[in-house]
Amino acid sequence: MTLSLGVLASGRGSNFLAVQREIENGTLDARISLLISDRAKAPALEIAREHGIEALHIPYQTKDRAVFERAAIEALDQAGCEVILLAGYMRILTPVFIRHFEDRILNIHPSLLPSFKGLHPQQQALDAGVKFSGCTVHKVIDDLDAGPIVAQAVVPVFDGDTEDSLSARILEQEHRIYAEAIRILSSERSQP
Ligand code: GRF
Repeated sequence: MTLSLGVLASGRGSNFLAVQREIENGTLDARISLLISDRAKAPALEIAREHGIEALHIPYQTKDRAVFERAAIEALDQAGCEVILLAGYMRILTPVFIRHFEDRILNIHPSLLPSFKGLHPQQQALDAGVKFSGCTVHKVIDDLDAGPIVAQAVVPVFDGDTEDSLSARILEQEHRIYAEAIRILSSERSQP
């Protein structure tokens, strides 16, 4: 059964695009029913529209996070989204949103969780002097960058790496494992 996905994205949207490309290539049995961004200028909105995907900007009010989330929940439900992908979504979700889509929200993070949670994980990896880092897709729970791990990929860290060079090497793997994680979740969901 084709899985209906909703995406939350705040920026560039390369992970979302990688998932969409797998859908278009026929390697992922899913469709992206709606993309929502909290930022009007997020390139992800434009990319979605270019691919014929409904794209919605919902303004984010830091003073009242519930306003954004209520509108997002309503739009995602109305579009029939079964699974929600966080793809470079830079806000913290409240328990209300997480409970509404319990076990059905995935996030991608550019480190081998549980190491290097939060901001600038690639720089954190360089500062720690690790020889390998990578990326993780996990289910979202009410705790930042935590929750059951669905897929991971490892990349080497080279002497002389910068935050940018390491980020680019990790991003290549992110683009591969997000679709892989969706396939895993989808097959979990179709088991009796
Ligand atoms: C990615 O590195 C992702 O892991 C992190 O934010 C970045 C978003 O990139 N959560 P993009 O918008 O998908 O290009």
